[in-house]
Amino acid sequence: MALLEADKVSRSFVAGKNRSLALPEVSLVVEPREFLVISGPSGAGKSTLLNLLGGLDRPSRGEVRYGGQSLTAMEESQVALLRNSAFGFIFQTPHLLVDRTVAENISLPFHYGEPASKNNMDSRCRELLSYIGMADLADRYPDTLSGGEMQRVVFARALVRRPTLIFADEPTGSLDVDNSEKIMKLLQEQTRQGCTVVMVSHDPEAIRYGSRVLRLEKPPSPR
Ligand SMILES: Nc1ncnc2c1ncn2[C@@H]1O[C@H](COP(=O)(O)OP(=O)(O)O)[C@@H](O)[C@H]1O
Ligand SMILES: [Mg+2]
Repeated sequence: MALLEADKVSRSFVAGKNRSLALPEVSLVVEPREFLVISGPSGAGKSTLLNLLGGLDRPSRGEVRYGGQSLTAMEESQVALLRNSAFGFIFQTPHLLVDRTVAENISLPFHYGEPASKNNMDSRCRELLSYIGMADLADRYPDTLSGGEMQRVVFARALVRRPTLIFADEPTGSLDVDNSEKIMKLLQEQTRQGCTVVMVSHDPEAIRYGSRVLRLEKPPSPR
C-alpha cells in the first residue's frame, strides 16, 4: 500500500471577495523509502502542498491519505497525534526555543503525545547529538550556535521520535554549501535506514539527492 497519497488535492484561500488558487489540483503517491523532491518556481504552491501532505493544513478539495487513512476526514486532535508520532518537520529557517539548551530542544517532541521514560529520552538525545556531530554542544543555547548547527538541531528534533516520514521545506535555503551538504547527507542516510522523505527545494545541489522529482508549475495569473 502507498505510504502517502494526495488524491486530486487543491487549495485556495479566500480573502474578502477574492479567492486565490494557491495549489491547482494535483495527485501523487509516495512509496515507502522514497526520497521525493517537490520543485518548481517560487509561488507554484510547493509549501502549500507540503503542508497538506504533512497534515499541517487541509485541502479545499480532494483528500490526503497516510497508510490508506484519510487525514482529511480526521479530527484535528488525531492529526496532531499522527504528526507527532509519525512525522518529522524541517523548515527553511530553524526555529528553536531560545531559553532551552540544544539537548532540551531536541527532546521537545517527547513532551507531547506518547510518554517516554527519562532514560529513553536521554539516550535517544545523546545518540542524535553524536549523529549530527554536536555531542559536545548539548548544553549550549541556540543563540550561541551557527546557522548550520541550528539546522542540524532541528534535524535531530525531527528525528527524535523515529518518524516514518520526514517533511522538509527548503531545508538548505538558509545554509552555505558545506552545511547544505551535511543536511542532505543526513536526510539521505535516513532513507537508507527506512525513512521516507518528502522535500521541497529549488536548490539544484539538494535536488540531486532525491530519488524522484515532482515539478510544480506556476499557474498563469490571474487565477
Ligand atoms: N495562507 C495563505 N493565504 C493566501 N495566499 C497564500 C497563503 N499561502 C500561500 N498563498 C499563496 O499561494 C501561492 C503558493 O504559495 P506557496 O505554496 O508558499 O509557494 P512556494 O512554496 O512554491 O513558493 C502563492 O501565490 C502564495 O501567495
Ligand atoms: Mg515555499
